[in-house]
Formats: sequence, C-alpha cells, structure tokens
Amino acid sequence: MAASPVGAAVAQIDPNPFSEHRRTLGLAEIQTAYDFEPVFRGNVIQPVYDYTAHGDGSEFTLQRNRQAFDWVEIAPARAAIPASQVDLSSEFLGVKMKFPIMIAPTAAMAPLHPDGEIGMFKAATAASNTLMILSTNTSTPVTQVAPAALGGTLWGQFYPLQNLATTQQWMDTYQNAGCNGIIVTIDQQASYYERTLQDRNLGGRVRTGGAGAGGGTAALTGSARYRVNTGRLWYTWQYIDAVRKMVKGPLLLKGILEAEDARLAIEHGADAIIVSNHGGRSMDYGPSTLEVLPEIVAAVNGRVPVLFDSGIRRGADIFKALALGANGVCLGRAARWGLGAFGPAGAQRLIEILQRELVQTAAAAGCARLSDINKTTVKANFV
Ligand SMILES: Cc1cc2nc3c(=O)[nH]c(=O)nc-3n(C[C@H](O)[C@H](O)[C@H](O)COP(=O)(O)O)c2cc1C
Repeated sequence: MAASPVGAAVAQIDPNPFSEHRRTLGLAEIQTAYDFEPVFRGNVIQPVYDYTAHGDGSEFTLQRNRQAFDWVEIAPARAAIPASQVDLSSEFLGVKMKFPIMIAPTAAMAPLHPDGEIGMFKAATAASNTLMILSTNTSTPVTQVAPAALGGTLWGQFYPLQNLATTQQWMDTYQNAGCNGIIVTIDQQASYYERTLQDRNLGGRVRTGGAGAGGGTAALTGSARYRVNTGRLWYTWQYIDAVRKMVKGPLLLKGILEAEDARLAIEHGADAIIVSNHGGRSMDYGPSTLEVLPEIVAAVNGRVPVLFDSGIRRGADIFKALALGANGVCLGRAARWGLGAFGPAGAQRLIEILQRELVQTAAAAGCARLSDINKTTVKANFV
C-alpha cells in the first residue's frame, strides 16, 4: 500500500485530505468525501480517473462550481441544537426520503468497480434508501440494475433521441423495469467532456454524439473538426411535449441554468427541474450552479421541486444549496469516488458521511427540519 500510486487530487481545489498518514487510507479511516478521491485514483487506470475528474475546456466552470460554495456563509445560529433533534426527512414526488440527497446519473460505472451500477444501487439503498438515477450510458442494463436492491428506488436518465419510436422504446424499457421517474438531460448539446486518447493525441477521430444519442466517431473533418457534438443540436420543446406523453410518472428536466428555461420546463410539463451544468462538463465558462440557483428558485416560485447538482462534496455544501432554495441535491463525482475506492461499501460510506455532515451542519445552524434551512440561514457573497 505504501507504494500505491496515490497523489493529490488534481481536479479539485479543496485541501488535500486531513490524514495523519501518507499511506493509502483504509475504509475505516476515511472521514470526508475528499479522502476517497486519492484512493479511487490509485485503484483505476489514468483514463478512467481522467474521465471522472475532468471538465470541459479550461475547467473554469468545474472550479467555479466549488468556489461558489466558499462564497456562501452559514449564519451563526442563535441557538445550536443537538444533532439528535435534526430530522431532514421529506417526500419528493411521492418518494419518501430520510435525507434530501440522491445519486446523479453518471455513465459507465463498471470501470470503477466490477459491481458497477448494481453495486452503486445497492450502496445507495443501504444508505437510508437513497434514490439513484441510472445513466442512459450505464455499463449494466436497467433490467439487471433495477431488481438488484430490494426496496430501493431507481429512476432513469435519458438523452433526447430525435427518433420518437426509439424514444418510446427507451421509455418503455425504463418504465417496465420499474423506473417511475424519468430524467431528460438537456445540457451538453454542443460541447462536452468526452476526450478519447486519440482525441487528445489529435489522432483524427472525435465523438459525434453520446452513446445514448446513437452517435459514433468521425474523422476530424467537417463539423467534427470543431469538436461539436452534432448528435444533440436539434433539441426542441416540442420534443419534450412528446416525451411528456410517454412518461406516466414524474418527468424531470436536467441541466437548467436560467430562470426562463425553468419557466418553460414547467410550461412543457416537467414535474421537477435539476439545476445542473453537468459538473462543469457542459459548456465551459457557463455559470456555477449555486450562483444561478436563487434566481431559478424565484422563477419556479414553489410550483415544482428544484433539485441541484454540480460541485457537492460536503454536507455544508448541501446545506447551502438547500438554504438557497433547492429541495434536494444529487451527487455525481463524489459517489463515483466512493465506488471506485472501496466498491459498494465505499459508496455507502460516502453517502452516509455526507448525510452525517449535513445533519451536523443543520444542528450547528439551529435547523431541526428541512423547512428551517432557508435563506435566513446563509449569506451569499457571490463575486
Ligand atoms: C464521469 C461522469 C459521467 C456523467 N455521465 C452523465 C450521464 O450519463 N448523464 C447525465 O445526465 N449526467 C451525467 N453526468 C453529470 C452528473 O449527472 C452530474 O450532473 C454531475 O456529475 C454533478 O457534478 P459533480 O460531479 O460535481 O457532483 C456525468 C458526470 C460525470 C462526472
């Protein structure tokens, strides 16, 4: 273990783990989400690490997602309360949740750990029935993942496909497998982080669409020369209207970054929206999600729940997003660090650490219930 190729996390700006050791930590020694990342990095080959860690372009938005949390202060509580008095349970679109935390859809988990998505779903369910959203680019089909965790809630994520018959097939597959909620991701239209080794070496081929968008690779000629994902440039609200008719349960739109889009999403039948910039993997130099959250919450005005992701690494981050109006948050990279570091036990532990940190922050801020975590509990100094 002493020779494990662990190193400082490269894609994050937070301090290195507060470990007393220079060797790789064991699961029992892990204390924060950040402790998992170097272990994960040591376990997987470089392209697998890079695929999880990085963001689009100069990674400005990736970094800003984290910086934004630093610009929000938590107001000192008039009276802190014991953690045992904190109960953050809620009901989200018919799903009872002990904590307002879910697993974001992230592609291809098999390279992180042999248990892949099945391991992640079992881990999420074991961690107080945390809802998991399965990526359309899953390494394991939904028909195998869905039955893996008794009592767990699995929803399905989907990238728009121009062909409505194929779209309907995907909806049928998800819904027949028991995925009640469907998440349609509407960001990453033109620019996204998906660099193959050939791409990096300018070897001549570039992805033209996500696997779920039926895209393949093309020579770096024509529009591919500009690395534009030509498979996703046609998205329309009419398409969302068509999908709405295919989805019997909740329909969520993921990738909302503007108040106007939030209003339109509701107009076109979304039951909830997810404020997300794909963890800085969509258009670089776009805003951090925390900065745009308040204006989107104001535009939504309580009509539908608002979920939040991009940059969550600590319980205090979750507290801040909730205080600025989110009804819940989704974990992207952090959950992958847990699975990649220690398999399902690691993913479960990671979720439980964030749940505990959230409770601890709420107690320190004097908040016993979710409704107590509101804008009076924070002060945003966005720069
Ligand atoms: C490696 C990786 C793969 C992802 N794959 C998908 C995907 O298939 N579908 C999707 O909607 N979002 C995908 N996302 C975005 C996540 O759902 C989420 O928005 C993002 O990870 C949140 O930011 P965070 O990683 O900083 O928590 C992916 C993110 C990462 C890091």
